[in-house]
Amino acid sequence: MFKFNFNIDGPESDSNLEYDSTQELQKKNRLYWYDVDEIFLDKSKHSNISLYKQNSKCFSFLDQQLFVVSYEKQIKLQQTIKNSIKNADLNHSDLVTAVYEGGAKIWECTEDLLIYMLQNKITENISGKLVLDLGCGTGLLGIFAAFNNAIVHFQDYNKDVLELVTIPNVLINLPFNSWLESSQMKFFSGDWSKYVEATKNSPRFDLILSSETIYNPDNHAKLLNTFAEKLKSTGLIYLAAKTHYFGVGGGLRQFEDLIVRDNRFKSKIVWKSTIGVCREILEIKFKS
Ligand SMILES: C[S@@+](CC[C@H](N)C(=O)[O-])C[C@H]1O[C@@H](n2cnc3c(N)ncnc32)[C@H](O)[C@@H]1O
Repeated sequence: MFKFNFNIDGPESDSNLEYDSTQELQKKNRLYWYDVDEIFLDKSKHSNISLYKQNSKCFSFLDQQLFVVSYEKQIKLQQTIKNSIKNADLNHSDLVTAVYEGGAKIWECTEDLLIYMLQNKITENISGKLVLDLGCGTGLLGIFAAFNNAIVHFQDYNKDVLELVTIPNVLINLPFNSWLESSQMKFFSGDWSKYVEATKNSPRFDLILSSETIYNPDNHAKLLNTFAEKLKSTGLIYLAAKTHYFGVGGGLRQFEDLIVRDNRFKSKIVWKSTIGVCREILEIKFKS
């Protein structure tokens, strides 16, 4: 089943992830996880804002409206086929392990976490604080934090996602008053472990937001280590995810087990879905 449509009415249900048929083969071979690249919000990107607006659609999360570009329209701007999103799209896959990690569309738990943050005023005192949207995809969590004057860094595995989706979304949603203001934001592509290494001298974050990033159990340790290396000692993490990812293997109970065994963090479930696919939000912080 092709499940990679940019949704019409809101984030789609995507609990049964569609894998590319080459996935099992790739797993048997050694996977190469991409190196880190920093993508800069240069002036040429600002000049495309009207085009990005034409390619976007408005979504409402309670009373918060956010514009999101259609990745399908955005990839039409690309002349070559050498584009991870386009290839995944052509192969009808949500994910191609270590090649394309699914960031071009809005995943369901992003909506959960946005609504949770709105209802619980999570970003109320966040002005001037450092926030990381880890595995950002469309970047809506980070954009929401930036609305509240946080300094946000966006990380996604795929450079294409940052260039074609995240950065356009940032530019069409945030009213930049000055060039300097937008230059405080940072965008990094590449694998989590390489991101940790490449940014080891950068300040740690007050808040890390992450949605739908635990579907692959092989990456759990890497993700937890990223949390440990990037969070301030007093910082908070909100991790939104499905309880179980059918067909892929990851799930929140496994990730919680790792947190317990690892012994650096404590976590609690702060929200659970009551309808539809089982989804939860974990609040994670360092043990004091
Ligand atoms: C399913 S998408 C979720 C995107 C977005 N957070 C959302 O909820 O709409 C998973 C995201 O996790 C990130 N990701 C997964 N594995 C990764 C890895 N090994 N290194 C870096 N990022 C990874 C990718 O950036 C990808 O966008």
